[in-house]
Amino acid sequence: MTRPFRTAAVIGAGTIGLSWTALFAAHGLTVQVSDPRPDLEDATDEALAEFAPHLAAQGLDTDGLAGRVHLAADVAEAVRDADVVQENGPERVGFKKELFAQLIREAPGHALLLSSSSAIPATAFSAGLEDAGRVLVGHPFNPPHLMPLVEVVPGERTTEEAVHAAVDFYTAVGRTPVVERQEMPGFVGNRLQSALSREAVYLVQQGVISPEDLDTVVTHSLGIRWSAVGPFLGSHLGGGPGGYRHMSAHIGQSMQQLDLGQPSQDPQDRERVIEAVEKAYAATPYTELAEARDRKQLAVLAALDDVRRTQHDKEN
Ligand SMILES: NC(=O)c1ccc[n+]([C@@H]2O[C@H](COP(=O)([O-])OP(=O)(O)OC[C@H]3O[C@@H](n4cnc5c(N)ncnc54)[C@H](O)[C@@H]3O)[C@@H](O)[C@H]2O)c1
Repeated sequence: MTRPFRTAAVIGAGTIGLSWTALFAAHGLTVQVSDPRPDLEDATDEALAEFAPHLAAQGLDTDGLAGRVHLAADVAEAVRDADVVQENGPERVGFKKELFAQLIREAPGHALLLSSSSAIPATAFSAGLEDAGRVLVGHPFNPPHLMPLVEVVPGERTTEEAVHAAVDFYTAVGRTPVVERQEMPGFVGNRLQSALSREAVYLVQQGVISPEDLDTVVTHSLGIRWSAVGPFLGSHLGGGPGGYRHMSAHIGQSMQQLDLGQPSQDPQDRERVIEAVEKAYAATPYTELAEARDRKQLAVLAALDDVRRTQHDKEN
């Protein structure tokens, strides 16, 4: 590791910030949390209680989890001793600009400054700042204490040392960082998700399929395949012994000719899709749906871990 990470500051304790808080604390870091929300204490306690079993299922020691999490009076107090700051405030460029200017003033000079930003690139909120070399995006998938991927996206002024440090940090907290070398809007994960969602909405609008059947198509085929191999390795294997080259010349050409749809943005058409999704899932309360999702995701992660361990044992 390029440097030790002992204290993390989590700025913004909503959906993403609370999940990071639990993960960092489960990896033994001292976590300082700052958020002006009036229910911060209750929300943090509830999140730690809810996420502890998920962390334990990943083999992490959750004893003393709450004791490592401290609620700071403000941003300045939270970052005072930080080795790393993970920002998770509102997705507004003005907010992030002001906050990162404050972080540069108030966090120790060695602290790595990371943003969970989903679509705003680091250059947009750090370009004019002194010391922007240590600012970059570490974009997680929700919830970050379960989802391994973190997209590490440097801004124009981010140093290579900061990129390496971010990769080391996320690796140390059990994530799988992937460095992306251009600040594409939506980065890579959300662009892929958006391409699929666009076609899904189009197919429902066209009356080809219902939202719940479309979900079944994905969870019973692509979802299972993609947790084992990505689209490129999937195609490489799909091409048989001739690999990706054969796939590309053979099925690939007819796939290229598919005319993918553009969903209607007409408010009434959009409303019809929203109502269809609500109707499909209204019978089960939100908490039950979310718990079922988390249980299944944990089971997939555990199964993959098992396969990796067996493979590792075989090779060593
Ligand atoms: N929700 C997702 O699926 C998801 C996934 C990946 C990344 N992100 C990104 O993470 C960030 C946070 O998203 P979220 O979904 O957790 O939002 P959220 O609305 O749940 O939480 C944002 C939190 O920021 C707090 N906040 C507002 N002003 C603040 C200030 N001055 N200092 C500290 N905290 C402040 C709010 O009180 C709120 O609790 C966004 O940039 C978002 O794009 C979200």
